[in-house]
Amino acid sequence: MQNTLAGGCSSPVRSGWSVGEKPFVQSRGDGAYAFDEHGERYIDYIMGYGPLFFGYNNPALTAGLQQLAARGVLFGSTHAEEERLAQRIRAHVPSIERVRFTTTGSEAMMSAIRVARAFTGRNLIVRFAGNYHGHFDAALFDAGASAQTPETGRSGIPEGVMQDVAVARYNEIEAVERVLAGREKELAAIVVEPICANMGLVPASTEFLKSLRACADDAGALLIFDEIISWPRAGMGGAQAVYGVRPDITAIGKVLGGGFPIAAFGGREDIVDVLAPDGPVFTGGTHAGNPFSVAVAHRVLDQLESHPEYFAYVRGLAERLAAGIREIFARRNLAYNVVQYESIVDFMFRNGPPVRNYDDARGSDGAKYAAYYRAMLDRHILLPPSQNEVMFLSTAHTESDVDETLAAIDHSLKEAVAS
Ligand SMILES: Cc1ncc(COP(=O)(O)O)c(C=O)c1O
Repeated sequence: MQNTLAGGCSSPVRSGWSVGEKPFVQSRGDGAYAFDEHGERYIDYIMGYGPLFFGYNNPALTAGLQQLAARGVLFGSTHAEEERLAQRIRAHVPSIERVRFTTTGSEAMMSAIRVARAFTGRNLIVRFAGNYHGHFDAALFDAGASAQTPETGRSGIPEGVMQDVAVARYNEIEAVERVLAGREKELAAIVVEPICANMGLVPASTEFLKSLRACADDAGALLIFDEIISWPRAGMGGAQAVYGVRPDITAIGKVLGGGFPIAAFGGREDIVDVLAPDGPVFTGGTHAGNPFSVAVAHRVLDQLESHPEYFAYVRGLAERLAAGIREIFARRNLAYNVVQYESIVDFMFRNGPPVRNYDDARGSDGAKYAAYYRAMLDRHILLPPSQNEVMFLSTAHTESDVDETLAAIDHSLKEAVAS
């Protein structure tokens, strides 16, 4: 199998390359648990890298899928449920006045950037080191997540693409001013993860996001929020509601499909109207807005709208996990920082103040994380196989899962830190 499936996986993070491991081979998932090929159960904190807010196999999303399939999983035509889903998204995130659906987050972000360039008639994009927007050419240089090697940012990517991408340090407006100096009139858009979860968990400061808004306005450029992780984990209005900063274009995905492939981008009507057939900009997709994923996305919204208590539940679990890890660190005299935002928890093997940018994140100890990952796997806890990724809680996790995890962390840290 290893020789036929390129790299033994369909997405490199799964190969375990960042932690020097073989791929974890999964046979199924149920609730908060992943099962390996031998049927062994693991408490899962990868949760599909974010989409599984309701855990695996949640009947609220999966009941009666056969009836949905019987109607046809794919149409080559537009359908009314797409418009209804677009309206529902807009009701929660008012800056998304008009929506286009895609299959993946990468496509949503790639298309958002194309729209911004066409609307402004300019080419330059400012991005942030350690943010991850997908695997298209303009997004990979200095990206976070598991696309973290210098080679992944360059290989197969024409030099010319990078001439119009400037990468700045996150949470530092002066860094934006530096990369922009003299090029303000070339700027099409500033692209940012407002709550970054691809160099560990690093929420932006409010001041930083507000400054980005002002900077884009001053340059006559657009502000693009990549909320593919932060919506709706930060709440139904996304990070933009929490921070009170209105972007021109937003991309969402992941939780929207609850595990089924769907993402979207949208924004100000006059901007999105550059898309064909209203305007000249082309984006498309055989599977874009497919009726199966759209139907499941409606179920996701049904759940989130009718059960606001779910947010408090997953936040409570995340707080319990974060507090437990802090207590272990204090007892073991470890000076690592635990970061928690709503249902996301993270720490890096790094002393000192919390990570603010990718330079900080790169200063963390990869060998210790690898040892810790292995020790946790031995105790049947499945962590992301990269220190740049984060732990996601779901409505399927329980307090007893968290407590079992804390006991495993306590023992695993002893081994990892000693190594
Ligand atoms: C913030 C962010 N944007 C974009 C993407 C790309 O999404 P996809 O993997 O669906 O292409 C990801 C994926 O992890 C992400 O975390």
